[in-house]
Amino acid sequence: MSESAFRSIEQADVAGKRVLVRVDMNVPMQGGVVRDATRIKRVLPTIKSLVERGAKVILLSHFGRPKGKRVAVMSLRPIAEKMDEMLPGTPVKFAEDCIGADVERAVNALENGNVLFLENLRFHSGEEANDPEFAQALAALGDIYVNEAFSVSHRAHASIDALARALPAYAGVSMMAEISALSGALENPERPVAAVVGGAKISTKISVLGNLVQKFDSVIIGGAMANTFLHAKGVDVGNSLCEADLADTAREILRTAEREGCEILLPVDAVVAKQLKQGAESEVCAIDAVPADSMILDVGPQTVQALTAKLASCKTLLWNGPLGAFEIAPFGAGTFALAREAARLTKARSLVTIAGGGDTLAALNAAGVANDFTYVSTAGGAFLEWLEGRELPGVAALRDK
Ligand code: 3PG
Repeated sequence: MSESAFRSIEQADVAGKRVLVRVDMNVPMQGGVVRDATRIKRVLPTIKSLVERGAKVILLSHFGRPKGKRVAVMSLRPIAEKMDEMLPGTPVKFAEDCIGADVERAVNALENGNVLFLENLRFHSGEEANDPEFAQALAALGDIYVNEAFSVSHRAHASIDALARALPAYAGVSMMAEISALSGALENPERPVAAVVGGAKISTKISVLGNLVQKFDSVIIGGAMANTFLHAKGVDVGNSLCEADLADTAREILRTAEREGCEILLPVDAVVAKQLKQGAESEVCAIDAVPADSMILDVGPQTVQALTAKLASCKTLLWNGPLGAFEIAPFGAGTFALAREAARLTKARSLVTIAGGGDTLAALNAAGVANDFTYVSTAGGAFLEWLEGRELPGVAALRDK
């Protein structure tokens, strides 16, 4: 999908206009405090550009899953306050709801260059139901719509789908960057192109693997997910996490890969331990020598060497999911070593690296390389659905408008 299929906010005449910007402020919070502001940082260029051009900026977001009810701990107020701090010189006002007479008054009081942050969309059941009336109530607040929330664009919700169809719709700066990075890697990558697919369960990534083996030259499978593939190939994985009932599915994926000429790389050795806990006694063993009472918790050094050599021959790498139980020392070594090598090759300009989904950002942060990849998506579910080859409702609603 080419970027030109979307209208960017730079093309919009926004001066004096009420611009509804859908952002995804579903950010990690602890005790009412924002723990990771990455998603806030990512939307600032769009907000600044609109403010500088004299728009009246109205921010829409959800937070958590309040299921159509007002839930105090899911208020967006603390996030609006954090954004206010992060936008010096541009006060961010907050409205206690996202539709209704009070909100309309607050919108009418906006001057050019002002920013108003509305309360959680999911306090209204119409949001998740993609209810046309709820979408109309939102549309009445604005002249122009901007989707700056790739990470929730897999949800056909009112603020993502119906609202985008009700107003002139544009893609925000980071939405454009996501689409361009992901379609670059998936549809027209510089080859050879490899993927790292890790994580605990293949049950959550069957469609991702099924799609990638048809498009990529190599797929590196790691994490507990690799155990299911090893088991399917007749390897005894001892006490490891393994979805034995998915052995047939794993074999089907291996057959598709062979037919499509995609090389599947599985661990050749592993770091094993009897328990998954901090500092547990561990050893390295060949993949066909895992003791019956031990679990595979990371890839071993020979696997890291083989995967490092594979990266050296690639031009594009897409990374989703860790290779081991990286949160618990010493089981992060494999993930960190490969992530650092990918970062080194990126800096040397011999590899384009795109990462995203669930734990991936945390793993790259723990390895200290999140800023060294070519592009790191903040999306979880949306990233996975894109990798499955599905069209996201929020992207479809913006295309060719
Ligand atoms: C996310 O954080 O991945 C998005 O905001 C989507 O959230 P949801 O899974 O609650 O729809």
